[in-house]
Amino acid sequence: MPLKVQIAPSLLACDLTRLGDEVQAVTAAGADLLHLDVMDGHFVPNLTFGFPVIAALKKIAKLPIDAHLMIEGADGYLDAFQSAGCAWLSVHVEACPHLHRTLARIRELGMKAGVALNPGTPIGSLDAALDFVDYVLVMSVDPGFGGQSFIPGSFDRVREIRTRIGKRPVSIQIDGGIKAENAGEAIGAGADILVVGTGLFAAKDYGAQIRRIRGAEAATR
Ligand code: DX5
Ligand code: ZN
Repeated sequence: MPLKVQIAPSLLACDLTRLGDEVQAVTAAGADLLHLDVMDGHFVPNLTFGFPVIAALKKIAKLPIDAHLMIEGADGYLDAFQSAGCAWLSVHVEACPHLHRTLARIRELGMKAGVALNPGTPIGSLDAALDFVDYVLVMSVDPGFGGQSFIPGSFDRVREIRTRIGKRPVSIQIDGGIKAENAGEAIGAGADILVVGTGLFAAKDYGAQIRRIRGAEAATR
């Protein structure tokens, strides 16, 4: 049974002067998760959202908040992300020296645990984590900014990771440069959660755009 495909709008690309309205609009449009890119200016050369924003979002969010941590020293903040309202939390394999402890703590706190991988990181670095995660986040751009070009070869990495996951109930999120035009290929390669930033928020009609992305889904399954 193929996993149900979920759409996770990356809020970094929305009109941040109207964050609440944008969240309500993508929710009404049929999104499944709210993807929030948390950056620390160390692991990646950018700074984005912190706890006050997440807590505000939680007050109005009807969908689960999926925080993608692009930060060093995540261990010190896991409880705070849970308290602020995150339901899904992914950490980067490149930034987590004690990966099992980190993933176990995320689950202990009642959140779904994800492990994220940069485009240049060998896939084998995931192997030890696959029994301890709910999802793998495959970066298809170097993390740090929205609106970058998809890195060719990323779907081959998704395919390889899907093979290594085997029968485990582990989702694959693909993140970076995903649009209606390449969503079908992403799903065909084995991704079941599509993070879409500019590919969604640049559209006038979010509902139609999500349907287009899901249409790609119908075409490949
Ligand atoms: C990049 C982030 C992505 C990004 C996606 O570091 O992890 O979630 O915002 O944006 P698009 O879809 O515009 O590439
Ligand atoms: Zn992200």
